[in-house]
Amino acid sequence: MDPLTGNSMLNRSPVAIYDSVAEQYDRERSAATYEQRLEIYRTLLDEHAPTARRVLDLGCGTGTFTRLLADRGFDVVGLDASREMLRIAVGSERPQRSAAVRYVHGDFIELPALGKFDVALTVGEPFNYLKDEAELVHVLRNVAAVLDSPGLLIFDVLSRRSFTRMTKVPHVEEVAGVIRVIKGEAEDDATHINVRERRFSPHGDLWKLVTNVHRHTLFDSDAIRRCASQAGYAGVQLYGIRQGRLQDRFDDELHAWCIAVAWKQ
Ligand SMILES: C[S@@+](CC[C@H](N)C(=O)[O-])C[C@H]1O[C@@H](n2cnc3c(N)ncnc32)[C@H](O)[C@@H]1O
Repeated sequence: MDPLTGNSMLNRSPVAIYDSVAEQYDRERSAATYEQRLEIYRTLLDEHAPTARRVLDLGCGTGTFTRLLADRGFDVVGLDASREMLRIAVGSERPQRSAAVRYVHGDFIELPALGKFDVALTVGEPFNYLKDEAELVHVLRNVAAVLDSPGLLIFDVLSRRSFTRMTKVPHVEEVAGVIRVIKGEAEDDATHINVRERRFSPHGDLWKLVTNVHRHTLFDSDAIRRCASQAGYAGVQLYGIRQGRLQDRFDDELHAWCIAVAWKQ
């Protein structure tokens, strides 16, 4: 037995990763971050889709953002590939509000039939798990097919700045009794990074170690524009996020996240 860890596990697929962290996921995230994100998305919705009602939350996870949207009066479908994340989402739902929220188990790479929406969105960068530009184009096309006209897709991705930072600076934190050590390793092609997240939690006299390897694809501003155009969107506008605030122009080197707003006619 490992002298440090009584038990260890390695997850590489997003489903295995999120199934394994689902129980702790909400404890490791602050409500304030979601409120901040909500303000940003509301600003974008007010500007680009002020009459939107039906929203598809792609990669909804435990549904925190889904619920915030429903609280603001949107009819929301939350889709996620992790059954464990969805189990928490469904368990957190208030019965009296269930008409406005529906959770669906599914993969956004092969989007199931879900009806039509005014807006589709992502929060928490799930599209960085897509393996390359061809897969992003495929997903963007499928999403366009479930959007009414005019319809809007808002998706967030990590920027080149975040990728570089993750390879240079290991991140160590302790939240809710779990110690996380996070470090990225770039692949040779410069568009992929393997973010190794080591999670230590107490396990009797020893530690349990779970290692999650998040393989992320970098979609920089050129790639996003190219993919949106190939997928048939009429236009795309890129916004940056810096220190939690929306910037009306995105810079790959300056901003930690990009939020892409793509519209179909
Ligand atoms: C970082 S979490 C974000 C969850 C949620 N949106 C939030 O902000 O808390 C990413 C989520 O995307 C989901 N995901 C990743 N790839 C997916 C795919 N191909 N189809 C559906 N869900 C996916 C994961 O299961 C996970 O719940």
